[in-house]
Amino acid sequence: MAKTVSFDSLPREIRTALYRIDEPECFSVERSRHEAITVVNKRLSRVYKFVRKNKKLVLLLDKEIDNLILLRNKKISAPTVLNRQPLKQYDMVSYAYVEGEIVADSMMPKNAKLLADAHRKLHIAFEREGKGKLAEWNSARMLKPIFSKTNASEYAPELVKYARSIARALKAHELAREDVTFIHSDSHLSNVVFQPERAVLIDWAEAGWASKYFELGVTIHAMLYEKKAMQRDLIVTYLNEYFEAGKITERDVQLIELHVKLRFLEGATWHLLESKEDQLLNKVRYAKFVEDSWRKAERFDLAKLLGMPATKA
Ligand SMILES: Nc1ncnc2c1ncn2[C@@H]1O[C@H](COP(=O)(O)OP(=O)(O)O)[C@@H](O)[C@H]1O
Ligand SMILES: [Mg+2]
Repeated sequence: MAKTVSFDSLPREIRTALYRIDEPECFSVERSRHEAITVVNKRLSRVYKFVRKNKKLVLLLDKEIDNLILLRNKKISAPTVLNRQPLKQYDMVSYAYVEGEIVADSMMPKNAKLLADAHRKLHIAFEREGKGKLAEWNSARMLKPIFSKTNASEYAPELVKYARSIARALKAHELAREDVTFIHSDSHLSNVVFQPERAVLIDWAEAGWASKYFELGVTIHAMLYEKKAMQRDLIVTYLNEYFEAGKITERDVQLIELHVKLRFLEGATWHLLESKEDQLLNKVRYAKFVEDSWRKAERFDLAKLLGMPATKA
């Protein structure tokens, strides 16, 4: 989970690398978690990402850079990679700072509209190349920890059964490799910078080929953590912009709903990424989050929210 970190508490070699660039007070540590540290310098308009040199993290960083090049070729707005430099224990990458506002917890319909626009443009740009591509993100991958024997003690049998029903409901869609395109896949609101006329997605490490409905599911799931009174308005505005008002079909609604449920269930696996120590320390809190995520998955009903006649997936 995110922690606030001061410059002085950064690892020494990171401080040394930053000292060479500017005065310490010009840097703000945005994020420090999972052994990846993001530091921003607004004066220089630069972002520095440091990742621990282990296989998995370096692969993710390579992937993010490849993704950003792919986007650049299609003229999709995203951070520009400026430089990469190996340190002893970390890899350091610098990006151009994307000017704008991050609105986690205070999203407004105008933001939902800009985000829908950014997603639609992205999905259309890669629609042709995506045809027939194997999805990198799907229910098998998201739900694997829930089905794994190793985690049997983590999940109630009813939860596992429910997760199986969602995987089954998505099976035909996933096997047909329909609507596969390039998706950001992690567009929760800390990864979106809003400018007056557009939304720019940042943090492309997890981007890849997948059903466009996966993206819509992740995004609507994020909106369900915004203020209660705002949620419906955000979701309706987002979908109206993405599909053009009135053009959303029953199939769209079904597939989006299943992907929102899938994301809630994925939420029930997030605590497994924390250290064993953290898991033990927060056992009660995590168990509650798992239970909540499951209930929310079961309850989420998009047709009802949109005031459409009930459909059965
Ligand atoms: N190019 C950028 N422009 C503006 N802010 C950025 C940029 N890159 C990162 N940030 C800020 O740093 C935070 C963490 O960076 P991010 O790339 O999302 O890493 P993480 O993997 O830790 O989520 C973002 O939520 C954002 O506030
Ligand atoms: Mg992020």
